[in-house]
Amino acid sequence: MRVRTAQMVGTGTPGAPGVRVDVYVRPGDAKRALRAEVLEGLCGRPKELSPKWLYDERGSQLFDDITRLPEYYPTRREREILLAHAGDVARLSGADTMIELGSGTSEKTRLLLDAMEEAGQLSRFVPFDVSEAFLRRAAADLAREYPGITVHAVVGDFERHLGQLPGGGRRLVAFLGGTIGNFKPAQRALFLRELSAGLRPGDGLLLGTDLIKDRERLHAAYNDRAGVTAEFNRNVLRVLNRELGGDFDPDAFEHFAPFDEENAWIEMRLVSRCAQTVWLSTLRRRVDFAEGEVLRTEVSCKFRQAQVEAELAEAGLTLTEWWTDAAGDFALSLALKR
Ligand code: SAH
Ligand code: AVI
Repeated sequence: MRVRTAQMVGTGTPGAPGVRVDVYVRPGDAKRALRAEVLEGLCGRPKELSPKWLYDERGSQLFDDITRLPEYYPTRREREILLAHAGDVARLSGADTMIELGSGTSEKTRLLLDAMEEAGQLSRFVPFDVSEAFLRRAAADLAREYPGITVHAVVGDFERHLGQLPGGGRRLVAFLGGTIGNFKPAQRALFLRELSAGLRPGDGLLLGTDLIKDRERLHAAYNDRAGVTAEFNRNVLRVLNRELGGDFDPDAFEHFAPFDEENAWIEMRLVSRCAQTVWLSTLRRRVDFAEGEVLRTEVSCKFRQAQVEAELAEAGLTLTEWWTDAAGDFALSLALKR
């Protein structure tokens, strides 16, 4: 695998350190992967796409808007836990390197970086995300805010490039926001096994998981009144139009996100409002939708403590702390590699 390494030096503040950016997902690779996935996922039944395609620049911005919606509690709850326990995380992990998977804006992560810096132990931050432009901006901001550390950003797919995580030092991998819930159970087991295999004894994982709760609150969080989640969901159709020469009319699809009790997940659906045919010129394919036919764009699994603990143990990670917010909506787990 060839890596393009860019040194983004001089972010505006004199004396600010450079940001190293390693790119494992080039635009051409992403397009090829999307093509392959669309041939399988859109042309088969039931229709389904991986949630990673939701996060182009606009999608990343829409997710950021979601985090501020009154109905979307996970971000606020996780921040509450971090406010209470960032110091404990720094102390118990003893880490000097923080790696954040699916880092987005790394907004909440600053609480952890501050605690590690206060403890005098922070030397390196590695934000890792598939959304390149968004990641580059976030990394430059972080380098300005934390001039004493190395910011080493990695543009990668955490389903394919965990082997490329930088080594060295005592590492804490943060996987926040409940993003682990966006894997289905089999993918999740694989992901945890691969992640754990790349850690050394004493390295840690800080994992955010959304907890099972009453379906009304879950439903409200993923079907907000302002329609931001609907726009986030429909944005994937704009991605397909741009990347594959599609002619989707996003307004011809309705957003619906029901809770599936059996699987304990919320799923985001795009429901075709009518019988329609979409043309994807790059693939020279037409895709037919019946009225009411569903395209699933994301699952978001909800958890209980025993399940998280068992899944971590299965991957060789020992749960050492389980913290929740006061309402018990969300949990942060600290686990150590055995
Ligand atoms: N950690 C942040 C953002 C969560 S949104 C928070 O807690 O608020 C999910 C993030 O994961 C997005 O930034 C998205 O670009 C990234 N992402 C989604 N699928 C990914 C994949 N397969 N590999 C790497 N990053 C991915
Ligand atoms: C990123 N991930 C944890 C979010 C979630 O809640 O599953 C994505 C999201 N989907 C709809 N709203 C937010």
